[in-house]
Amino acid sequence: MTINEQITQLRDEINYHLYRYHVLDAPVISDAEYDALYRELVELEQQRPELITPDSPTQRAGAEPLGAFEKVTHPAPILSLANAFNAADLRAWHARIGRLLPDPEMNLDYVVEPKLDGLTVVLTYRDGRFTQGATRGNGQIGENITQNLRTIRGLPQRIPVDPASDLTPPPYLVVRGEAFFPLDKFEAFNLARMATGAAAYMNPRNAAAGSLRQLDSTITAARPLTLFVYDFIAWEGGDIPPTQWERLARLRGYGFPVSPDNQQCPDLGSVAAAYNAWIEKRNQINYEIDGMVVKINDRPLADSLGFVGKDPRGAIAMKFPAQEKTTKLLDVQVNVGRTGILAPTAVLEPVEIGGVIVRNATLHNYDEIARKDIRIGDTVVVKRAGDVIPYIIGPVAALRDGSERAVERPSHCPACGEPAIQIEGEVAIACDNPACPEQLVRRVEYFVSRAALDVDNFGAQTGALLIEQGLVHDIADIYTLNRDDLLALEGFKEKKADNLLAGIAASKQQPADRVLTALGIRYVGSVVAGLLLNALGSIDALAAANQEDLEAIEGIGPGTAVHILTWFANEKNRAILEKLRAAGLNFAVAERETAVAAQPLARLTFVITGTLPTMSRDKAKALVEQHGGKVTGAVSKKTSYLLAGEKAGGKLAKAQSLGVPVIDEAAFKTMINF
Ligand code: IVH
Repeated sequence: MTINEQITQLRDEINYHLYRYHVLDAPVISDAEYDALYRELVELEQQRPELITPDSPTQRAGAEPLGAFEKVTHPAPILSLANAFNAADLRAWHARIGRLLPDPEMNLDYVVEPKLDGLTVVLTYRDGRFTQGATRGNGQIGENITQNLRTIRGLPQRIPVDPASDLTPPPYLVVRGEAFFPLDKFEAFNLARMATGAAAYMNPRNAAAGSLRQLDSTITAARPLTLFVYDFIAWEGGDIPPTQWERLARLRGYGFPVSPDNQQCPDLGSVAAAYNAWIEKRNQINYEIDGMVVKINDRPLADSLGFVGKDPRGAIAMKFPAQEKTTKLLDVQVNVGRTGILAPTAVLEPVEIGGVIVRNATLHNYDEIARKDIRIGDTVVVKRAGDVIPYIIGPVAALRDGSERAVERPSHCPACGEPAIQIEGEVAIACDNPACPEQLVRRVEYFVSRAALDVDNFGAQTGALLIEQGLVHDIADIYTLNRDDLLALEGFKEKKADNLLAGIAASKQQPADRVLTALGIRYVGSVVAGLLLNALGSIDALAAANQEDLEAIEGIGPGTAVHILTWFANEKNRAILEKLRAAGLNFAVAERETAVAAQPLARLTFVITGTLPTMSRDKAKALVEQHGGKVTGAVSKKTSYLLAGEKAGGKLAKAQSLGVPVIDEAAFKTMINF
């Protein structure tokens, strides 16, 4: 195989794994294996830079900064939608279009989709390759943001993404979607951003817009943007199905990310029911929506109804009641975080927002309060979105009566009384006392939390109680607790004590990356912990690393490196590490891989094709994975075996041409002693 062919194959393979991970949420290889493929591609491309193409996965890291965005003309107007606010508006819409239908009595069916509160993007594919991405602009002319869109991991560079797919897209295809900032990433992203002194983004939508408007696409690449695609704008030479529901299925078939929350409704009554159900559910999903879009399923019919201004008649946006409310800011309390940061928290006059009573909201930091000029006693606008903590958008200054008071920066820690310090180079104020009991409560809380060691049966109050009773002086002390200690605590009976001890004991099996996360080093959350251990192999190797070693790791910047070094340089932290080691926690990643390596199909890659005599392909796939192997969609020189049944086609021919061994079901069963 030539280097060019090798590069092409690797790119397809990597793009396929990005799709499995980011679109299907069902990866078939480990992060470490993915990294190995990626590194191999980087090395080959370094040898032959002239072979780098814009659709290479390596280009998802961003390209040369632009001077300005070019303008692009859309192939068809990028329309918007008329709004409805309740069931009566919906019926009025239906009555209006009824008069235009060929038969006013005809039964219509609908597709109801979440109305994503992001940024419209228009994506062009030529011969299945992503060639251009644009903003909506004024609907006729948008801005060319191709470089930025390429960095979105779930955006297909080539369609169909799955090499096993038999779909062929039209040679020219333009689709429409919405790029957005996932809610679970928004809060943390904003906090990290403010830690560098930058202003917080007001909401996820602004964060998405700000991220896509960067002239330097490496900045976009570092943001966790994603997208859902929902429409065809233009195509030439090829067929697109006539109903909206089939169109969504087709987009998914090509490998585009499509919202899993779209639904089919056979009549207007079920549309109204779906809308009502979504008013309740809107806060349970990981992206912000401001309504539901109702579309007539029969697209040629819908299109034949024409427009009113820029709004097509065949669809309507049913907006949700506002998630922003005004209320009084009663007080600002100081919250001590696990790293000692003193964070201002708003105490509000309770207000109902989207079905939940909100009493507290985050105020981020004292600079932010000063910047927005928020005062105690102010009427403030509070916003709630998803599971993120409600936040204050700003004061309604016009409603002031002069009794409002400025928010004071704390001079001392409210828990231990030690003086508060200003963290150098950051906006945060912190309690610098390592023995502060409140910080310890927060550290233990984090140590046992789902994000870290995920200790079962460790209740919310347990940490504070254990610390108060003098049983826990640092996070490692939870491993020295015994039954008698616990039974002496208020509210602890035998069953509760045993459950807690079982949860603590089980947490010793957690992998090293969780142990590292649980240490609570600043900026070392689960993602960074994974990067560090992938590169270094163990917590001990990390403890021995210097600034240069750390900065050489992809994804680790100088600031994070300094925090890691400072943490490991501290005697007390070293002592905690030794206690955790003595308790038997995992410090190295190797242990997990050795367990996998002992399995019969370890390190083997299978492709499954055709009809097997006694089991489905899904069953065979599950068996491969249970025995430590992996299954991929396409045959390559790296495939260990092709498991082939009746009617095996192209994959069989490919395996034979590459010399990949072909086995049948019987041989496969022998391999796994089935
Ligand atoms: S359909 C003619 N579907 O909402 C078709 N729009 O207020 C018009 N939006 O500008 C768009 N999710 O940016 C459609 N599933 C969805 C949508 C959606 C979000 C946005 C879109 C549009 C705005 C209309």
